[in-house]
Amino acid sequence: MGVILAIANQKGGVGKTTTAINLGAELASKGIRVLLVDFDPQANATAGLGLRGADNPTVYDVVIDQLPLADVIIATPQSGLDLAPSGPDLAGAEVELVPAMAREQRLKNALEPIRGRYDAVIVDCAPSLGLLTLNALTAADAVLVPVQCEYVALEGLGQLTKTLDAVRRALNPSLKLGGLLLTMYDPRTRLCQEVAAEVRSHFSETFRTVIPRSVRVSEAPSHGLPIGMYAASSPAARAYAAFAAEVIEAYLPNSAPPLTKVEAKR
Ligand SMILES: Nc1ncnc2c1ncn2[C@@H]1O[C@H](COP(=O)(O)OP(=O)(O)O)[C@@H](O)[C@H]1O
Ligand SMILES: [Mg+2]
Repeated sequence: MGVILAIANQKGGVGKTTTAINLGAELASKGIRVLLVDFDPQANATAGLGLRGADNPTVYDVVIDQLPLADVIIATPQSGLDLAPSGPDLAGAEVELVPAMAREQRLKNALEPIRGRYDAVIVDCAPSLGLLTLNALTAADAVLVPVQCEYVALEGLGQLTKTLDAVRRALNPSLKLGGLLLTMYDPRTRLCQEVAAEVRSHFSETFRTVIPRSVRVSEAPSHGLPIGMYAASSPAARAYAAFAAEVIEAYLPNSAPPLTKVEAKR
């Protein structure tokens, strides 16, 4: 059974989608079978891999019309990384789900039949704590929270923590806070260092790896590629590889083929 990781933070622009794509691609490049579920109506993860949901069925059809998830899955440029694409109609699902039966369990139920095919399922959440994100948190084993290194970084994390507690009580008792990931880190600014220290002091479950701010990272989606394929030797690509190694250690200790000596030294 694959581990299900939700990438969530109700704040937009903090690096959720970037992290979902690049974590997924890094894990896949290590031989781990990964499904990336684009669960944001903005469909940035779908577009960032050079794909379109619009012409094909999407996760909207899965959560609303109960189409099997297997019927929407498509391949990505990274071998071993599959995608369940999103499209703009997913925005309607947020409202259409309100009166629906088992409305928070739709994604969990959809994943059930295909979990065995993947070692890891990564769900890229929308910037809200609405029903779509609740579906992701209900399905997930752990939530990973990208946090942008800026002075309001901690804002909203209290609300997120409260939501996780509520989800644990009502929907998913075993949901873990997998950890916070500091993104867009600029070591030259004191603010960044202070924010990082503050986040770490509030949340012991912060990943050791920090993702540097990098033009390469922001360019990669317009080429439809993860950073590991677009600029493999960039510091940001190495950072995402190091982050993926932490995720493997925590959640997939037996899934990755052993590191070669060269990789282990990086
Ligand atoms: N490490 C980084 N360095 C530079 N730009 C980044 C980095 N991470 C994300 N970005 C850019 O910041 C913007 C927001 O990132 P995104 O991953 O889409 O956030 P979210 O999914 O949380 O809204 C995007 O334009 C993305 O390319
Ligand atoms: Mg996003």
